Amino acid sequence: MRLFLDTANIQEIRDGARLGVISGVTTNPSLAATEGIGDRESYKSAVQEIADIVDGPISVEVVSLDSAGMIDEGREIAEWIPDPWVKIPSTPDGFEAISTLAKDGIKVNQTLCFSVNQALLGAQAGSTVVSPFIGRLDDIGHEGIELVGEIVDVFEKHHIQTQVLAASIRHTLHCTMAAQVGAHIATVPYRVLLQMVQHPLTDAGLDRFISDWKKASGS
Ligand code: G3P
Repeated sequence: MRLFLDTANIQEIRDGARLGVISGVTTNPSLAATEGIGDRESYKSAVQEIADIVDGPISVEVVSLDSAGMIDEGREIAEWIPDPWVKIPSTPDGFEAISTLAKDGIKVNQTLCFSVNQALLGAQAGSTVVSPFIGRLDDIGHEGIELVGEIVDVFEKHHIQTQVLAASIRHTLHCTMAAQVGAHIATVPYRVLLQMVQHPLTDAGLDRFISDWKKASGS
C-alpha cells in the first residue's frame, strides 16, 4: 500500500517528504482554504510548489458542480503539473465529467465515495482511483473501513483496474486497517504520519543502547 499525504500545507509536505515514505499528495478545497488559498491562481501555485517537493501524483479538486465546469477545470488542472490526478465528486455530473476526462487521458481521483455502487459507477466511467471516506462514515455510525474492504473485494472479483485510495483517515488504526483490507493507497494527515512513526519501546530501546554504549566507551 502506498502512502500519500493529505494536506495542502507546504511545510508539512516538506517535513513528511523528508522521511522518504510519501509517494503522492491529496488536497481538497477545505485543506486549501485552511492554508488561506481561496482562488485558482493561488491553488495553482501551491500545487506547483507541492509537485516540486513530491515526485508522484498530486490530487487537485475541482470546485464546479456541473459537468461542463468540472471538465473545463479538469483540463486546466491537468496542465499545471507533471502528474495530476483531478478530483471529481461522486455525483451524476461528476460521472459525466470523469468519463470525458478519462477519454482525454486525464487521471481522475473519484472523491466523496460512500458506497460500493458509487465506486462501481466511477470505475466504469474511467476513474484512475476511487476514494472512499473512512472517517466521515465513522462519524455517522457506519464502519468506514468495511466500505474500503468491500470495494477492494468487488474490484478484485471483476478484475477492475481502478485502484482504491483510503481517504478521510483520522488515526493510525485507520491506516493499519486500510492496509489489511487491501487498499492500494492510504492518504494520511501529517499528524497521523507522525503518530505512525512513534512507539515508546523504540524510544526506550534507543535510550538504553546509547547509554550502554556511552558507559562502555567511558564517554
Ligand atoms: O482525503 C479526503 C480527506 O481530506 C477528508 O478528510 O477528515 O475531512 O473527513 P476529513
